[in-house]
Amino acid sequence: MSSSSSSGGLLAVAVLAAVLAGARCAPAKVTFTVEKGSDEKDLAVLVKYEGDTMAEVELRENGSNEWVDMVKTDGDVWRFESEEPLQGPFNFRFLTVKGMKNVFDDVIPAKYTIGATYTPEQY
Ligand SMILES: *[C@@H]1O[C@H](CO)[C@@H](O)[C@H](O)[C@H]1NC(C)=O
Repeated sequence: MSSSSSSGGLLAVAVLAAVLAGARCAPAKVTFTVEKGSDEKDLAVLVKYEGDTMAEVELRENGSNEWVDMVKTDGDVWRFESEEPLQGPFNFRFLTVKGMKNVFDDVIPAKYTIGATYTPEQY
């Protein structure tokens, strides 16, 4: 069952990619850009992860215990439409195509700016 050799290979590739990308700046990072069309009941977010692609993105509103699936629309834009006004700040959880999972709290503030890119503070 062990796939240590192949995952070791993947890790080496990931490290190399991180080193190459790191020539520019910090470690692999994820960014969330609020897209046009977002409003109080609709959130559309371009999610970028260096060297990887989102497979699933979930959203949790402030004060909610529930994670809801976002739907992939254009390119890497993930969208959630609600019946009720959305409550920020918004928390995100995701799974990438390469199997990376992560959770970030308070990524997008309640009073976000369309076109602004938000980067979680720690990961
Ligand atoms: C987030 O939700 C909590 C609990 O409902 C609330 O106390 C807090 O004020 C909210 N934060 C913002 C920024 O609205």
